[in-house]
Amino acid sequence: MGLRAVVLGSAAGGGVPQWNCGCPVCRLAWAGDSRVQPRTQSSIAVSVDGEKWLLLNASPDIRQQILSNPVLQPRNGSRHSPIAAVLLSSGDIDHIAGLLCLRERQAFLLFGTAEILGSLDENRVFEVMARDVVSRRAVRLDESFEPLPGLIVSLIAVPGKVSLWREDEPMRLGEETEATVGVAISAAGKRIAYIPGCAAPSLRLYETITGTDLLFFDGTLWEDDEMITTGVGSKTGRRMGHMPMSGPDGSMATLADIPCGKRIFIHINNTNRVLVDGSAERAAIEEAGWIIAHDGMAFSL
Ligand code: MLT
Ligand code: MN
Ligand code: ZN
Repeated sequence: MGLRAVVLGSAAGGGVPQWNCGCPVCRLAWAGDSRVQPRTQSSIAVSVDGEKWLLLNASPDIRQQILSNPVLQPRNGSRHSPIAAVLLSSGDIDHIAGLLCLRERQAFLLFGTAEILGSLDENRVFEVMARDVVSRRAVRLDESFEPLPGLIVSLIAVPGKVSLWREDEPMRLGEETEATVGVAISAAGKRIAYIPGCAAPSLRLYETITGTDLLFFDGTLWEDDEMITTGVGSKTGRRMGHMPMSGPDGSMATLADIPCGKRIFIHINNTNRVLVDGSAERAAIEEAGWIIAHDGMAFSL
């Protein structure tokens, strides 16, 4: 007993390397350079008893993640899964596409805000999760609920934006809405905060992470204009709903004085040079007391 967490996937959307990417980091990964470890798309699993697990987000790489993590593999009878519940922190493709693999009439509970679950309701393909066995439960911000016995969870608003695939709708960039949330988890006197997307710091964010034993935080980009300077995109990080690690407004500087246990960057984009062992960027985050998540990283609190 206690609180356990396993990093199923540590990369941002696209993974490392990304199928169509020739950025400097992906190029090292494609070449099999041992300085860049391949990574699947961001998701963690938490449990109190080691039998039933809650997935935080369902990544497109979920099948590979289950293959790599025996705790998530079937154990009893002709149909079984230790995945008892799934909680979505956004409606982004890298956080929901894995739901399409969790079909075959397997019962589990699916949690998210009304807005995030509403996105699924509008897409008929998600009806493959048969509603008579997969119960969709909308939860309100700041209201605690118990997705697994003994695991207390609440969702907090963080500055963000609507999912990329809904950007044709009116967009409230950097506002706190139900579209992107942070997750606060507690069990057995221990706490985890999981915030894979956050556009800016906020008082609510500071409150949530203060004193947490494990902080998993948005490690998408090193620099705000990294997608532009690496030649793979035209958007800044903040425009994508992600604050950078570096700089005076970055996560390392703004969270430096918040007391908490282990600080772990997750949802790391393939352009981010912290992914390269021995890079100056990696040295800088370690100097600031952060570590980067890797697939399979496990914690027992
Ligand atoms: C993000 O984290 O910004 C999104 O996953 C982008 C996307 O959906 O590709
Ligand atoms: Mn993402
Ligand atoms: Zn890349």
